[in-house]
Amino acid sequence: MKIKAGIVGGAGYTAGELLRILLHHKFVELGGIVSSSNAGNPLHQVHDDLLGDTELVFASELAGDEDVVFLCLGHGNSKSWLAKNSLPEITHVIDLSNDFRLAADQEFDGREFVYGLPELNKSRIQQAQSIANPGCFATAIQLALLPLAQAGKLTDDVHVSAITGSTGAGQSLSETVHFSWRTNNVSIYKPFTHQHLGEIGESLAQLQPQLDLDINFIPYRGNFSRGIFASVYTPSDLSQDEAREMYKNFYAEAPFTTVSDKEIHLKQVVNTNKCLLHVQKLGKQLLITSVIDNLVKGASGQAVQNMNLLFGLPETTGLHLKSVLF
Ligand SMILES: NC(=O)c1ccc[n+]([C@@H]2O[C@H](COP(=O)([O-])OP(=O)(O)OC[C@H]3O[C@@H](n4cnc5c(N)ncnc54)[C@H](OP(=O)(O)O)[C@@H]3O)[C@@H](O)[C@H]2O)c1
Repeated sequence: MKIKAGIVGGAGYTAGELLRILLHHKFVELGGIVSSSNAGNPLHQVHDDLLGDTELVFASELAGDEDVVFLCLGHGNSKSWLAKNSLPEITHVIDLSNDFRLAADQEFDGREFVYGLPELNKSRIQQAQSIANPGCFATAIQLALLPLAQAGKLTDDVHVSAITGSTGAGQSLSETVHFSWRTNNVSIYKPFTHQHLGEIGESLAQLQPQLDLDINFIPYRGNFSRGIFASVYTPSDLSQDEAREMYKNFYAEAPFTTVSDKEIHLKQVVNTNKCLLHVQKLGKQLLITSVIDNLVKGASGQAVQNMNLLFGLPETTGLHLKSVLF
């Protein structure tokens, strides 16, 4: 039996990435791919690389019999879309925005959203009706910190620098995604105030309830289209060997998150649903680096991972993606 999957916000980047994955998922049949800007146009008119893969067209509404609906809308728009379009209770919703990620937002219109980070909440995701898919920076940073929180070892302030590609900002044009501005350039934005800090803090406190520290996060815009490289450090009494062992044990059952003994770099994960972590001790500081593809493990790949868990499929179904090292 196939899972019928619909998408809302079909012309955007995360929707395009979902289509690339779902078209090759052996247990998925596509339902309505809703687009407010492109209803009636072929999917490949917007997502050019799908030419030859599908002749499906964008719809103005869902087919109505979807088992799961992915909301790929900008922040705030998922809430308003759900308020206007009530879905049957049995239809699962996987939302990619930040509308339902925080505990205070997880109940909406009779739906209960579970925070969809499988490395943290796998058993709750398997039982969930609806999923709030994590943010991209939040995914990279949480995966770098969860093992420390689990061991109660987050005892001092945490410093994070993380650089993202231009697709992180979505398909709308703006000065900072304009080629002339972005190429050969680096800049920061929202220092210490990025909106993902809320979900990061809640997940860490779930594992280490007495958490009392600052996460000092500086996000960077990078001169590339895909991926996030995060470096995270905090003072620690663990030795390098103890820390590496702890991280490897924490992620032993996580099919997409792997602790590397060698230093890591972005191209190891671009186009895949992987997160790679590297842990080293330098003086008093434990330094953890973390890399993901913002559109895959940071968005649409993780959304499919959550869908697999919701429907009782192996977590990795449809997510054995080919990397592009060179
Ligand atoms: N890009 C990433 O790396 C990333 C990672 C993690 C999470 N996210 C989150 O995922 C969501 C989608 O991101 P994205 O990068 O795919 O954004 P995007 O490329 O800007 O696409 C969003 C889509 O939403 C639809 N839309 C735009 N304005 C709308 C409105 N006012 N009301 C209803 N629909 C509207 C449009 O699709 P139609 O024209 O087809 O209707 C648009 O293409 C965002 O909440 C984002 O924060 C993104």
